[in-house]
Amino acid sequence: MAGIPHDHYEPKTSGEKWLHKRLPIAGIAYDTLMIPTPKNLNWMWIWGIVLTFTLVLQIVTGIVLVMHYVPHVDMAFASVEHIMRDVNGGHMIRYFHMNGASLFFVAVYAHIFRSLYYGSYKAPREVTWIIGNLMFLLMMASAFMGYVLPWGQMSFHGTAVITGLFGAIPFVGEALQTWILGGPAVGQAALNRFFSLHYLMPMLLLGLTVVHIWAFHTTGNNNPTGVEVRRSSKEEAERDTLPFWPYFVIKDLFALAIIIAVFMAVVGFMPNYLGHPDNYIEANPLATPSHIVPEWYFLPFYAILRAFTPDVWIVMFTSWITFGIVDAAFFGVLAMFGSLVVLALAPWLDTSSVRSGRYRPMFKWWFAALVVDFFVLMWAGAMPAEGIYPIIALIGATYWFAYFLVILPLLGVIERPLAQPRTIEDDFKAHYRSDQGSGGATAPTPAE
Ligand code: HEM
Repeated sequence: MAGIPHDHYEPKTSGEKWLHKRLPIAGIAYDTLMIPTPKNLNWMWIWGIVLTFTLVLQIVTGIVLVMHYVPHVDMAFASVEHIMRDVNGGHMIRYFHMNGASLFFVAVYAHIFRSLYYGSYKAPREVTWIIGNLMFLLMMASAFMGYVLPWGQMSFHGTAVITGLFGAIPFVGEALQTWILGGPAVGQAALNRFFSLHYLMPMLLLGLTVVHIWAFHTTGNNNPTGVEVRRSSKEEAERDTLPFWPYFVIKDLFALAIIIAVFMAVVGFMPNYLGHPDNYIEANPLATPSHIVPEWYFLPFYAILRAFTPDVWIVMFTSWITFGIVDAAFFGVLAMFGSLVVLALAPWLDTSSVRSGRYRPMFKWWFAALVVDFFVLMWAGAMPAEGIYPIIALIGATYWFAYFLVILPLLGVIERPLAQPRTIEDDFKAHYRSDQGSGGATAPTPAE
């Protein structure tokens, strides 16, 4: 696909020319910063920057924490307390890192649902989407392993439950679980390897972020209309876009400043609000907490994992046709990972020729139900697996799969989309007419 036509970097001074011949780094930086960006991007396009910021925050605070943390079962808990009490600014660094994980997931969920609503995953942005999904997996793996490190009660017993899931895999399960833990149970070997991987994964995320950005710079950004930037000439492209610097940099920094203010308030006034009090009790393998819950950001997937109890007909049926190989525990594991697989396959499951949800009258409602479903699953995941809760989780899990496997493919066939604007420029003008004064965009309208 041809990129959006724009002026490329031209070295001017002799110093610039010298460097450009040897390492075109200034050219790459210039092209990245001045990339033509659809001028109608709304506030849902800020989350990528928030994610990038949070990744850097996690790496920087993590590196400082490592200077004082001791990955040993007898010392890990005490070393975290030492960070909190004795290290200069230690409690602040730790609270940044702890709550930074939550900010990361708030941003990633907003980013994913933005992509789902505006059809950003659709051609030609499938590679951006798939890389995004890999990053999501890495984020989850890294957050899970990080939670083990303070070696509190939830760290220990949560790890035992989640790694126990691998034990549910037929034939190879037990061997796999032992391999992951480095032994028959959660202990020193597990703590060591999780520490090592927890440090490694954000570095991989950093690398994937570069590839993610490279991918959507190749195709150009999507935008709220889903209509592509005109590429036939530089003049037309300029009518649909504005350079990333300074317009979107200022907008993104403004949004980031507000988010950081809220984040600081959480870190400053309620740093433990999102955590579990049991994790301030040192791990004790002999005392299992009555109710083991993962961090809030895992709850929707945890609910899917627990939704498929042995009395659900599909579990009974699958167990019957596989001669008992796929039992309820294994079915739950398959459902949990399956819920991520169907998300990743969205570009191929969505058959609509229209990209943006704005012009899809039926899709809008099903999408709204998906958002509600996500929060219902989150709530159900936090509840004990008894009474009405597994039934609610089962309904939620069924809708999640139905949305991707049935509703998305079907809507493309039966839905009659609304008329879309012909160009991004038309949409921009409809929203920000120059006679709207300060309420409209302040960016200059390109000459007609
Ligand atoms: C560390 C995690 C991530 C970082 C740093 C990141 C960064 C970014 C940035 C900077 C953008 C462009 C601006 C914006 O759309 O907000 C972007 C776009 C995009 N991201 Fe991510 N992202 C991450 C995770 C994800 C995940 C988990 C997904 C999907 C599962 C995803 C899917 C997309 C898609 C489809 C676009 C293209 C949107 C467009 O073209 O407008 N990203 N990402």
